[in-house]
Amino acid sequence: MTDFALEAVGLRKQFGPKTAVSNLTLQVKRGEIFGFLGPNGAGKTTSIKMLLGLTSPTAGHATLLGRPLGDRHARAKMGFLPEHFRFHEWLTAAEFLDLHGRLYRMAPEARRKAIPELLALVGLQERADTPLRAFSKGMLQRIGLAQALLNDPELIFLDEPTSGLDPLGRRLVRDVINQLRQRGTAVFLNSHLLSEVEQTCDRVTFIRQGEVLETVSLHEPVTAVPVILRVGQPTPPLLAELGAFGDGVVQAADGRIHLTLPNEAALPQLATWLVSQGHTLYELTPKAMTLEDRFLQIVGDQSEG
Ligand SMILES: Nc1ncnc2c1ncn2[C@@H]1O[C@H](COP(=O)(O)OP(=O)(O)O)[C@@H](O)[C@H]1O
Ligand SMILES: [Mg+2]
Repeated sequence: MTDFALEAVGLRKQFGPKTAVSNLTLQVKRGEIFGFLGPNGAGKTTSIKMLLGLTSPTAGHATLLGRPLGDRHARAKMGFLPEHFRFHEWLTAAEFLDLHGRLYRMAPEARRKAIPELLALVGLQERADTPLRAFSKGMLQRIGLAQALLNDPELIFLDEPTSGLDPLGRRLVRDVINQLRQRGTAVFLNSHLLSEVEQTCDRVTFIRQGEVLETVSLHEPVTAVPVILRVGQPTPPLLAELGAFGDGVVQAADGRIHLTLPNEAALPQLATWLVSQGHTLYELTPKAMTLEDRFLQIVGDQSEG
């Protein structure tokens, strides 16, 4: 068994002259919550459709759960919540799940067991007999998630699962994703919402205009810490010595010194050293990079290029 839930190499989708996805190469580990982040029209939905075998790529290949693209055995272990799900609104929640269970060819006993469990997982156990037409948008999204989980998938694709939901609805979807993490299900989450991805994902790939820009891990220890430093006497020798602690040492017009430390551990080291050298330390402020900073940096870099 491979360690990857998904490996894509050079996937491309061309619609006539329009390149929807230009060269998608990425890997998702088993059990990982993976964010696919980009503005509307970036190529996220087209990428998911290629990975699910719903549309064939113009070029490239991929392996899902160790099987080639479009393989039926792999598809039987995958779940999908589409961006615009069409619900059978005359059915009750339980009937809707039962219909989809039959589409998955689940045996009657298996459906009887799974449906109440899934309704509980998405917090709709009290609504089993409520017709979907009476459901709010958030409830529909949660029953859609339950549908995507019927076959106990090892890999699930969620296309903008929280768009159009209010904060409470988003929170409930996020809770379900956290439960999936506990079950060891790999999640491929499409979103144009930075905060959404930041709060749920282990790793994020940024995509824009069909191009993968960069992949970042959200759990790795912070690698570079920009800091602002203010001491009593910022002399030229001090500035030179600070070069041993970090990069990009400059003094701003207000006298503050800016530099970038290689990691967080360098912060107390620098503070201790400054004091031991007799400097009066007024300020040593780390500026953590948020995902938004990184996003602007990555996307900004590209738009200048
Ligand atoms: N069937 C299609 N025919 C022509 N162009 C398409 C088709 N599907 C998507 N596109 C175009 O490909 C680009 C990527 O679309 P999409 O994958 O839906 O982006 P996202 O999901 O990131 O919003 C868009 O410019 C869109 O207009
Ligand atoms: Mg989309």
